[in-house]
Amino acid sequence: MSEKKKILIIQKVHQKGMELIKNHPNFEVDVTDDTSEENLKAKIQNCDGASIRIANLSGDVMKEAKNLKIVSRHGVGYDNIDLNYAKEKDIKIAITANANAVTVSEHVMFNLLYISKRKDLFDKTVREGNFKDRNKLPKTIELWKKNFLIVGFGRIGQALIKRCFGFEMKVYVFDPFVSKEKIESMGGKKVENLEDAVKTMDVISLHMPLTEKTKNLINYELLKTMKKNCIIINAARGGIINEIDLDKALNENLIFGAGIDVFEKEPPDDNNLLLKNEKVFLSPHAAAFTEECMTRMGIETIQNIIDFFENKIDQSKIVKL
Ligand SMILES: NC(=O)c1ccc[n+]([C@@H]2O[C@H](COP(=O)([O-])OP(=O)(O)OC[C@H]3O[C@@H](n4cnc5c(N)ncnc54)[C@H](O)[C@@H]3O)[C@@H](O)[C@H]2O)c1
Repeated sequence: MSEKKKILIIQKVHQKGMELIKNHPNFEVDVTDDTSEENLKAKIQNCDGASIRIANLSGDVMKEAKNLKIVSRHGVGYDNIDLNYAKEKDIKIAITANANAVTVSEHVMFNLLYISKRKDLFDKTVREGNFKDRNKLPKTIELWKKNFLIVGFGRIGQALIKRCFGFEMKVYVFDPFVSKEKIESMGGKKVENLEDAVKTMDVISLHMPLTEKTKNLINYELLKTMKKNCIIINAARGGIINEIDLDKALNENLIFGAGIDVFEKEPPDDNNLLLKNEKVFLSPHAAAFTEECMTRMGIETIQNIIDFFENKIDQSKIVKL
């Protein structure tokens, strides 16, 4: 490389990732934790590359960096980046494709167990001295041989199916872009119609991107048709489930419970109805937050930048815009 490439790390990543580039002879690195547009516009000027976590990276910010060639996403979703601008200027977007499928799928199983076994109530009952009331507790649910629908059968969906078989569940998959053969080779059953499939499911877990097509896909009309014992989990992207409709459906006992890791607006507003709904188990967009996964993501985010400028990045990690 003729001269040092300037890289802006927006919100620092795991130490092991930072170490890869900190003293690298080909790179000059700046790190910022202030994700305001104003700060990013000032910091990104003259940068050749940047990394981003869940903060927004708008076209107006990227416009300030005339030499910007790559944005490396710490994660696999990229809806926080202005894709139209990136496409227009041929700015590549790289993702940490190998880092988080296992951890996110573990998070789904954790949600499912927590909700179906009413961990919160059990724990509270003992701590508050109400052990003797154990027979009055509301019912819990078994997972054995239950119908599990995975919506979106990419990296995470495929890691999840393996974990479902540990509970001997029957797994159905809705993903218009993955073949029946592929799904069957992993032990699942392909479903062609989401509306029909949800009616008989005990668990529905979402693992597709947020797009015009998937926004509000899970709405009151669909929730109304689900089984009363159905548990729905969204560790994909906020907005795929309509939050107001979900709150309503839970209050009307149309479904059993929900696990929500991602929100339409992050952080959610204080008056977000889900924050007060006890049938929802919440987490702060943290499905990938294990130590192991954060280490892998930090390393892969930075390695993608290095590999890109050394012309050896695995092209499957570059998003096709
Ligand atoms: N909560 C978190 O911390 C966290 C972490 C990682 C990924 N995610 C999110 O999880 C989702 C899945 O990640 P991945 O790595 O498995 O992605 P992936 O690209 O490997 O798989 C996504 C799958 O969704 C399918 N799909 C697209 N549109 C669909 C639709 N309308 N209906 C059904 N399926 C559809 C695609 O065919 C693909 O197989 C993404 O939205 C990502 O942003 C969240």
